[in-house]
Amino acid sequence: MIVEPAPAKINLALHVRHRRPDGYHELETLFAFATGGDEITVEIADADAFDITGPFAAALTPAPLQDGDEVVSDNLVTRARNAFRELFGITGNYLITLAKNLPIASGIGGGSADAAATLRALARLSNIPLTDPRLSDIAASLGADIPACLTGRTALGTGRGDDLADLTGLAGTPLLLVNPGVAVSTAAVFAGWDGIDRGALPAGDLLARARAGRNDLEPPATRLAPVIATVRAQLDAAPGAVLSRMSGSGATCFALFDTANARDAAAIDAEAQGWWTLATTLA
Ligand code: C5P
Repeated sequence: MIVEPAPAKINLALHVRHRRPDGYHELETLFAFATGGDEITVEIADADAFDITGPFAAALTPAPLQDGDEVVSDNLVTRARNAFRELFGITGNYLITLAKNLPIASGIGGGSADAAATLRALARLSNIPLTDPRLSDIAASLGADIPACLTGRTALGTGRGDDLADLTGLAGTPLLLVNPGVAVSTAAVFAGWDGIDRGALPAGDLLARARAGRNDLEPPATRLAPVIATVRAQLDAAPGAVLSRMSGSGATCFALFDTANARDAAAIDAEAQGWWTLATTLA
């Protein structure tokens, strides 16, 4: 049995540069990862099965379920499994369990992280090195964020977000994720971008680049879910916050803190509003 963490992804900055003819947007984004998130467990089985457990399982599970049904037929996890088996010519069956700890449709790469963890787990079960380029090909075919989630390393993402260059810095920084419980559609948020290129990321160390950067999806996401502005204002005002921003297409926002105590105090204030939080560190 292989247990593979599927850590939350955050975008320290996310610059949308222009719309592309393929319907995607050209991005410049700083990817970083939390030390906590979902978890994928894979074991060899007589027949394929896919189970979802954890606090956000219900959000992904349609009712009513038949015994033995795969819970969500088009989940990114089962799509990753099918693509892996096809490309590597493997005939085995798997029991895959997803512990869904992260809110869905929330800008922290949950589904992408789960698909990437599935690919890593299946590769490890089959003794395929994680550096095999076919894994990143599958990742890119499943979604723009999945190559970044496959490596799980801090990186500059360009193109659709899937051309990656590793970056260093900020490992161990106290990190708080806050989600106000509103799911927003990534496609709808991108569609609401105003088309204005506000420029490239500056040079410098990672924190300086992140602080000078922006998330260009924050205005369109906030139009769809105005509570994002309330979360951002609270995180901005939190004592010890070094940087606060929305991640991805939202609605999850994050803040980096100078101490774990400051992060934990901000988490208590966020929970008092009824918001979901994850108090963690940057990987
Ligand atoms: O690739 P993925 O399925 O994760 O993307 C979800 C949606 O987000 C796309 O259908 C597209 O509308 C939008 N998107 C985009 N430009 C990107 C990444 C995502 O427009 N670079």
